[in-house]
Amino acid sequence: MPEWLNDAVFYEIYPQSFNDSDGDGIGDINGIIEKLDYVKNLGCNAIWLNPVYDSPFMDAGYDVRDYKRVAPRYGTNEDLVRLFEQAHARGIKILLDLVPGHTSDTHPWFSEAKKAEENEYSNRYIFTKTVWDAPPQYRMMCGICERNGNYMVNYFSSQPALNYGFGEITHPDWQLPPEHPECQKTVEAIKDIMRFWLEKGADGFRVDMADSLVKNDDDKTATAKIWRGVREMLDKDYPEAAMVAEWCNPQRAINDGGFHMDFYLDHYGNGYSRLFRYGEWGDRAVFNKNGKGDVKAFADEYLPNYNLSKDNGYISFMTNNHDMPRVTAYLDKQAIKLADAFIFTMPGVPFLYYGDEIDMRYQADLVSKEGGFSRTGSRTPMQWNSGKNLGFSESDEPYLPVDKSADAPTVENQKDDPDSIYRVVTDLIALRHKYPDLRGNGELEFMFEEGKVPFAFRRGKLVMYFNPLGVEFEFDTKYNGDVIYKLGGAEIENGKIKMQPQSFLMIEI
Ligand code: NOJ
Repeated sequence: MPEWLNDAVFYEIYPQSFNDSDGDGIGDINGIIEKLDYVKNLGCNAIWLNPVYDSPFMDAGYDVRDYKRVAPRYGTNEDLVRLFEQAHARGIKILLDLVPGHTSDTHPWFSEAKKAEENEYSNRYIFTKTVWDAPPQYRMMCGICERNGNYMVNYFSSQPALNYGFGEITHPDWQLPPEHPECQKTVEAIKDIMRFWLEKGADGFRVDMADSLVKNDDDKTATAKIWRGVREMLDKDYPEAAMVAEWCNPQRAINDGGFHMDFYLDHYGNGYSRLFRYGEWGDRAVFNKNGKGDVKAFADEYLPNYNLSKDNGYISFMTNNHDMPRVTAYLDKQAIKLADAFIFTMPGVPFLYYGDEIDMRYQADLVSKEGGFSRTGSRTPMQWNSGKNLGFSESDEPYLPVDKSADAPTVENQKDDPDSIYRVVTDLIALRHKYPDLRGNGELEFMFEEGKVPFAFRRGKLVMYFNPLGVEFEFDTKYNGDVIYKLGGAEIENGKIKMQPQSFLMIEI
């Protein structure tokens, strides 16, 4: 297990929207290098970079055309290596985004696989035997290449699924078992890509749709087995490299698959969603001040997962990511501060999505860009200052419009505002680094009563109390100690706590 994860705080960068250094309207790698000190000053010591590979951008780069080449619009492979070096010089690790489940339909492997005559890549993707065979339970593209077969897609139609075989075989004429040498070749091809970037200085990978490899693998054991093999490679040759799964099943991803971290994703109704987004526009979220949320639904899911996986890896809370509407669409500013207090003090390895530190807003109603659809509104350009395009780009036509509102938050106008989210996020990250009890995993005592607030949790000597509601509370606590940090009005005296509406209190016992 890489030691550095214990104190890691990640910053997610969506490269096309972060900082445009050459004025073409699209963010780029040199632009990211220019902002590394900014990332460091937030307290983040690791970056997850969304895909930067060559791509036709039908899905923002998750449709890879060449895994070993940086997209020209972002720069060159040399620029990416320079980013690794410059980040490392500042104590920052970089995880690239690995997309193992599918490629773009313009990838050279796929161009070969589509050909009628059999070749080295004929089994790299999943084709039926003839075009007349299109079982409805599989998502197939039909009759669109010279090869007499239909092919399976993994996400959008432009993303054919790579072939890792089938757990349960329903059509033996075209489905291979995962251990078939042709499927093993796909695994080797992905490992080869990982080695390529690790050798160049990458510190690991965020793995896209990590659970999607083997088809008809309902309990995901065959998929986990592949990842376990990848972990063995890392342990042997790159023991400092880390992998985080887009999976949301810590027992499978961490315990079985060997991932170091697994994202707690926003799946409607799951524990994460119950905290921040549940109901009609968040009206039943725990952090909504109306009090309709129920923290028990979160605890019932999270605690068993935490206890079963905590010795092997980390569950990662995110403030948001590039796939979900920013939480500004659901919660008010004080609620977001409390949500941040929760995310940055809970166990695991937290992830901050670019722009969340300045309370960037979800931009509803934007026309879809690069396969974003409703996600486009969470992917708008970073807002740096009051300059042209809020400092994102010198271009007259940035690839996506910046927030046009007169009161758009920017780094410049948030940084020194004592009431800003920026202040809260940077304070919390600093506390996480300062108090070893707040890092990584460890003892967690979660305290709540069904249907009731406030709730609290203790990690070692630190106790965090949350009153997300719009009303004041006074209650007894079994702990007594000194106030380390608070949001809103909250105080403790002789085991009695008084919490103003929407407040947070951290004490050391
Ligand atoms: C998950 C990624 O986060 C998302 O942005 C992408 O569209 C799909 N996987 C497909 O790769």
